Amino acid sequence: MKIAIVGTGYVGLVTGTCFAELGLDVTCIDINEERIDQLGKGIIPIYENGLEELVKRNVNAGRLHFSTSLADSLNDVTVVFIAVGTPPDEDGSADLRSVIQVARTIGQHIDKYHLVVTKSTVPVGTSFKVRSTIEGELNKRQIEVDFDVASNPEFLKEGNAIPDFMSPDRVVVGVESEKAKAIMTRLYKPILLNKFRVIFMDIPSAEMTKYAANSMLATRISFMNDVANLCEIVGANVNMVREGIGSDMRIGRKFLYPGIGYGGSCFPKDIKALIRTAEENNYEMRVLKAVDDVNEDQKRILFDKFKEHFKGAIENKVVAIWGLSFKPETDDMREAPSLTLIDLLLESNCKLRVFDPAAMEECKRRIGDKVYYARDPYDAALDADALFLLTEWKEFRLPSWGVLEKSMTNPVVFDGRNIYDKKELTELGFVYHCIGK
Ligand SMILES: NC(=O)c1ccc[n+]([C@@H]2O[C@H](COP(=O)([O-])OP(=O)(O)OC[C@H]3O[C@@H](n4cnc5c(N)ncnc54)[C@H](O)[C@@H]3O)[C@@H](O)[C@H]2O)c1
Repeated sequence: MKIAIVGTGYVGLVTGTCFAELGLDVTCIDINEERIDQLGKGIIPIYENGLEELVKRNVNAGRLHFSTSLADSLNDVTVVFIAVGTPPDEDGSADLRSVIQVARTIGQHIDKYHLVVTKSTVPVGTSFKVRSTIEGELNKRQIEVDFDVASNPEFLKEGNAIPDFMSPDRVVVGVESEKAKAIMTRLYKPILLNKFRVIFMDIPSAEMTKYAANSMLATRISFMNDVANLCEIVGANVNMVREGIGSDMRIGRKFLYPGIGYGGSCFPKDIKALIRTAEENNYEMRVLKAVDDVNEDQKRILFDKFKEHFKGAIENKVVAIWGLSFKPETDDMREAPSLTLIDLLLESNCKLRVFDPAAMEECKRRIGDKVYYARDPYDAALDADALFLLTEWKEFRLPSWGVLEKSMTNPVVFDGRNIYDKKELTELGFVYHCIGK
């Protein structure tokens, strides 16, 4: 079967490449000409573990193609996945312009049956808007073409996207016709054969499932950050509390780590979009509003600790920052807590020396030369008055504290991910600050 994937970002490129790996003939389409040009030369525009090899292998096998023209690719394929971005609008709702633009192009060019699957994260009702947009364009052309819409929200985790596709916890598919169900069953057959779950449901429920899943995960994070902040005040240790509650099977251990707030391309925008969907329907998502509030405050928690440590005298302090991406194993800095902290530190006239194993280029693209881009973690810490650990990349876990203690002006560590041992650092002469202990 031949399919097209529109949008070659984290979701589209991974989905297209993995479907090609499973044997389908896939055309990945993007309006970003530079991106398609680079992909054609084997240059992968994003950092995602294992993706480069997989793209090359499938291009060489003739199963994976790239194009800037959806119109040209359409009548060659049966299924079109929409995987374009849905960034937040000014009021927090999901901006659906790209999704609708793709639907319009589909309606303007199809001449035979297509299944149009929305993979982008979109509010309930969007797949039906996709359907009416296509119908509108077909009406303009005064022709009738049979087509179906479906919803297949994406749950991949950046950094682990390929294993997440190949061995998913579940695949959620919303359909409204037996034909669409049969096609989606065929596409996901290799996954079904391996006994992974493909859950079929109606389209609105599939769209809602994506938002509800991210909202639940974000709620756990904000809940733990709230608990951590109270732990500090009352003299409890959040790490022990986490162990204590995580061992309850009903609660589980995952997503209970306190830190500097969630970021990334999904949680912040999806939580705001669900709050907005509720408002549009005269309902208030009270829990999610609190989740969002706690997260905004948490992003500045290390800055407040830093200010308190230096009794407000932070001007001209040299600050080393380890980790810029919103989480390890990705170069993605969308809504990264590091950006909030960098802003706060620069506003206070601090001098920043930053290092990240993957996101240096992305950081340069976003903030230019306002900070010094270090060669390695030790270069970042040179003459620093404070070291901030923001992203828990593996290579930051066991640094040579002896070297750091000698090269820093002030051996003070602000650990935003609770990965270091206070006793060890204190014995080595550091002052150590973390979250919730
Ligand atoms: N990144 C994730 O971890 C993740 C996980 C699950 C779901 N999602 C959702 O998937 C969707 C895509 O996310 P992403 O992170 O891959 O986005 P992205 O910004 O990395 O990529 C989107 C791509 O779509 C292209 N595009 C935009 N309009 C287009 C058009 N009209 N025609 C063709 N291409 C177009 C852009 O040029 C870009 O390359 C979003 O709705 C997002 O919320 C993302």
